[in-house]
Amino acid sequence: MSAAIKEVKKITTNTLQRMKANGEKIAMLTAYDFSFAKIIDGADVDVILVGDSASNVMAGHETTLPITLEQMIYHASSVMRGINRCLVVVDLPFGSYQSNSEIALASAIRIMKETGAHAIKLEGGEEILDSVKRIISAGIPVMGHLGLTPQSIYKFGTYNVRAKEEDEANKLRNDTKLLQEAGCFAVVLEKIPAQLAKEVTESISIPTIGIGAGKHCDGQVLVMHDMLGINTEFKPRFLRQYLDLYEQSGKAVRKYIDDVKTGSFPNDNESY
Ligand code: KIV
Repeated sequence: MSAAIKEVKKITTNTLQRMKANGEKIAMLTAYDFSFAKIIDGADVDVILVGDSASNVMAGHETTLPITLEQMIYHASSVMRGINRCLVVVDLPFGSYQSNSEIALASAIRIMKETGAHAIKLEGGEEILDSVKRIISAGIPVMGHLGLTPQSIYKFGTYNVRAKEEDEANKLRNDTKLLQEAGCFAVVLEKIPAQLAKEVTESISIPTIGIGAGKHCDGQVLVMHDMLGINTEFKPRFLRQYLDLYEQSGKAVRKYIDDVKTGSFPNDNESY
């Protein structure tokens, strides 16, 4: 007799829309590999973002710009092998969509075909609208990303809070509407004033997912390495750290080294 199969209710883009309508908050976290994706999905997160922050936390680059489409596909397909329930969204990396909508669509198709992920995310508003529309027309769900968009760091010059001035806040208000009209299923709002995020969240029917955008967004996202305390150098005000994994891992490694050096590892029970 076969073992009982546990029914899993998978999260879809429609689930997220329903969650917003019902006032249920959406929890999103980044992941970049099989093992952590398994932990995070097993803990019942709603969405995993295979972020281009992999460029920082996995590859050690200073910015998100160097990561390639091939590298994102490698990370995303590893994540897909670890999940069972959550929705997986993958960042289109810098250079894979900005040139024109044909290139953007080709990049999005590669991600969907080669990883099995459920959706993609792009940074920007009006300036990338053609690409967003073309990708959605091909049946690929798109998440937007406004506010601090790290792929534009050399245009901004700093990682400071965005849209504090009225001009930029108005552009963000308009971009959010355009992304909704184009058919995006959700939008990330990064590092903008909480009051602006509240206003935008209340003005659209698709969910907003905030990072450094206050408590009124429909959901929140953090970079896994930051919230687990693996990455110790990055401590912005918006970050809540839930673990001190850098410290704890260091302790475990020092104990292992000590056990090897003193000959206490392996013991007879750990030998054949
Ligand atoms: O790449 C990433 O991790 C992101 C989040 C910070 C939203 O885009």
